Amino acid sequence: MKIAVAGTGYVGLVTGVCLASKGHQVTCVDVDEKKVEKMKRGETPIYEPGLQELMAQSVKNLSFTTDYKEAYRDADVIFIGVGTPEKYDGSANLAYVYEVAKQIAQNAEKHCVVVLKSTVPIGTNDKIESYIHDKQINDVKIYVASNPEFLSQGTAVHDTLHASRIVIGVTEEYPAKVLQKVYEDFDAPKLVVERRSAEMIKYASNDFLALKISYINEIANLCEVVGADIEEVTEGMGFDGRIGNRFLKAGIGYGGSCFPKDTKALNWLANFNDNEIRTIRAAIEVNENQKFKLIKKAKKYYHDFLFLNVAILGCTFKPGTDDLREAPSLVNVPLLLEDGAHVRIWDPVGTANFKKRFPDKIQYCDSIEQAIEGADICLILTEWESVKNFEVEKFQKLMKCPIVLDGRNCYSLSAFENTKITYDSIGRKTIN
Ligand code: UGA
Repeated sequence: MKIAVAGTGYVGLVTGVCLASKGHQVTCVDVDEKKVEKMKRGETPIYEPGLQELMAQSVKNLSFTTDYKEAYRDADVIFIGVGTPEKYDGSANLAYVYEVAKQIAQNAEKHCVVVLKSTVPIGTNDKIESYIHDKQINDVKIYVASNPEFLSQGTAVHDTLHASRIVIGVTEEYPAKVLQKVYEDFDAPKLVVERRSAEMIKYASNDFLALKISYINEIANLCEVVGADIEEVTEGMGFDGRIGNRFLKAGIGYGGSCFPKDTKALNWLANFNDNEIRTIRAAIEVNENQKFKLIKKAKKYYHDFLFLNVAILGCTFKPGTDDLREAPSLVNVPLLLEDGAHVRIWDPVGTANFKKRFPDKIQYCDSIEQAIEGADICLILTEWESVKNFEVEKFQKLMKCPIVLDGRNCYSLSAFENTKITYDSIGRKTIN
């Protein structure tokens, strides 16, 4: 089958490469010439484990272009995987999706199925379909199907090849058949539903996970007050299959390009329809506060941060990615700088992106040791493996004042018991 994919971000590129790996002929389209040139050389424009290798293996089925006219002209299926960023009012910005829809309408010369992978508000597929039909030039049948994406950054290739489910939202039989064929070699349950249900499945899933995280963060905050241990609590809860043990990790809040955006978008959509979704509104509020948790903890040890040497371990929104979108580091570091702290940051892949936003005032370090040497306090913001495997004695050996505030519960409390390190984490008692 001849497939075109619009957009080469996490969703578009990973989808394109995975489909090519299953034998489809895939053309990935992007407006960014530099990006396209890079991909033609076999390099991925995003950091995603395993993607570059799979791209190399599938090279004979893959092409990259800025020439959307040629790509959409005779494609059987066109996936739309462009971004739907948050607007100022919290709603989703659909300008990129509409732009691609227009290009398809003006260039498709044969019957095809347009598949919306981007996360879009409920009802968008209907609108895109009417929009395409209004704008189309050639007398061909263009179907629109919703096929939301459930991949996570850092495990995107695995999540696509071994998806928990493939949701196909349609109003007619033909696009369902085509998508079943596209995905026939993917070992995942396939679910054919109404188009609006498919759109809602995406938001409801992401927002439920965000809600779970905010809930557990509130329980963790309460654990600190009443003397319970959140790690023990979540272990005990997770055995109940109805609750499950995933997405119960307490921390300094969720970030990334999805949960923050999708919670706000659903909240907006509810309000727009004279409705309310109070649980999600609460999840958003809890998350915004949780991001400041370590700063609040730091105030227990120092009145102010003037001239304080602060080591930051991890700046990405989670491990396995160089993505900084909505990362807690983006609110914590500016606060520390504003208050006159000397900030040093270590992150295995995120510092290049951080440097683009904060070129001055921060010392970027190549090792954890370099970041913590002489520090008055250390804040752990991302649970990278090298942080989790770091010998904790080194905090004592290298820091001026060994106070470690761990926003991701990277260590067991017992690791600090016979040390002079003050270890203050989330939802657990403080050691020393
Ligand atoms: C999320 C969803 O997990 C995917 O299923 C979805 O497809 C994707 O959004 C999307 O809509 O595109 P992602 O944003 O890549 O994926 O990252 P997650 O692994 O879900 O983590 C999001 C945030 O939640 C991170 O900041 C992470 O640190 C935090 N988190 C996650 C916790 O604080 N606790 C947990 O137990 C799990």
